[in-house]
Amino acid sequence: MSQFNAPGAAPEPVASPNDLDAYWMPFTANRAFRKSPRLLVGAKDMHYQTSDGRQIIDGAAGLWCVNAGHGRAPIVEAIRAQAGEMDFAPPFQFGSPKAFQLASRIAALAPGDLDHVFFVNSGSEAVDTAMKIALAYHQANGQGGRQRFVGRVRGYHGVGFGGIAVGGMPANRKAFGIGTPAADHLPTTYNRAEQAYARGEPAWGAHLADELENIVALHDASTIGAVIVEPMAGSTGVLAAPQGYLQRLRALCDKHGLLLIFDEVITGFGRLGHAFASQRYGVVPDMICFAKGVTSGAVPMGGVIVRKHIFDAFMKGPEHMVELFHGYTYSAHPLACAAGLAALALYEEEGLFARALKLEASFADALHGLKGLPNVVDIRTIGLAGAIDLAPRPDAPGLRGYQAMEETFHRRDVLVRIAGDSIVLCPPLIVSENQIGEIADKVGAAIKALA
Ligand SMILES: Cc1ncc(COP(=O)(O)O)c(C=O)c1O
Repeated sequence: MSQFNAPGAAPEPVASPNDLDAYWMPFTANRAFRKSPRLLVGAKDMHYQTSDGRQIIDGAAGLWCVNAGHGRAPIVEAIRAQAGEMDFAPPFQFGSPKAFQLASRIAALAPGDLDHVFFVNSGSEAVDTAMKIALAYHQANGQGGRQRFVGRVRGYHGVGFGGIAVGGMPANRKAFGIGTPAADHLPTTYNRAEQAYARGEPAWGAHLADELENIVALHDASTIGAVIVEPMAGSTGVLAAPQGYLQRLRALCDKHGLLLIFDEVITGFGRLGHAFASQRYGVVPDMICFAKGVTSGAVPMGGVIVRKHIFDAFMKGPEHMVELFHGYTYSAHPLACAAGLAALALYEEEGLFARALKLEASFADALHGLKGLPNVVDIRTIGLAGAIDLAPRPDAPGLRGYQAMEETFHRRDVLVRIAGDSIVLCPPLIVSENQIGEIADKVGAAIKALA
């Protein structure tokens, strides 16, 4: 419907604000949503406000991103001030000071010699960017045959064609053809029979990294560019890497000359009690993808941090030439850089990464306390992330999870994330012990109500 009318013509009616028809919602059951909308209109600290005036405690940091809590004054002020000072600066061939400052801050937080930051606008773009850097890096080193990628079953790397090629979520792949990059997959690290009710990294499963040897034997190392994994797979239900698994993967990548990419879109900026999960494991990958928490969700931003040798491989040839033919109009957007600097300062001032580590045990106690409730078949926790698996209804996989989301939101005033029939919890890192208890109690009540 046009909102622009010919001069003198009677104004056309505009869509009423309550008309839910035009917006095609992402990763949403659109028809079910329209029957029973979940509309959020305000947010402060640990709570959302709904359109019908209820306060909802945020059990999911929005969507794994609002790590500093909602509407934090320093972040809000930084965005406001930046909007007034300079709205946009072209990132190609020009720069703005906050982009350089933020890159330095992020590089300082990252482990080892992960010293250079390429900015993008989302996790999906970060993954595609890391994959393109891997291809171009090998080509620059005279190994252009290294074009294949290795991901993992139940991995999630966003929705770009690169990300869905290496991702291991069937529903995200099957409607979109064969995709472009060639990819093979390591097995998932999750095995309920061996790992049920794990707190932290499961003891069983390090050997699953050795499957990389079979993949290399099949395709030959000379055709493989990089391995990409999440240190903890969040979107498919909080699957922590088994003890020793990531170390083994690092050793095998070194043995075969493969780059190791950690997708830390969820684990970056404190979720597992460190700036990056790689620090929890003492494993230095060749690249780290980040997004979400870098601005505490306040402005879209993502990026890739690369090790020195990767950056250096590109800094050759005539100096007036572009070294990497890649970038986005909104890379290092001034509003995102301002929000990022403010968010990182807040994380540091309030010690929020260490806080996540300190709360890990209470969070685990609260969630594992739900063991034994009807239909609960597994519970996993690590850092400030946890998942409660519910037994699928025999005739309708995913329905019990959906009903859990409706019950928690409409009747228990808590916002959770669902992954199939799993309830996923990952509150802002400012959550208090009491609020952890409140979230667990409300989720427990919802599970009982659904039985
Ligand atoms: C590990 C991982 N990678 C990539 C993405 C994609 O990020 P975005 O939705 O910002 O594109 C996500 C999103 O949840 C993620 O969890």
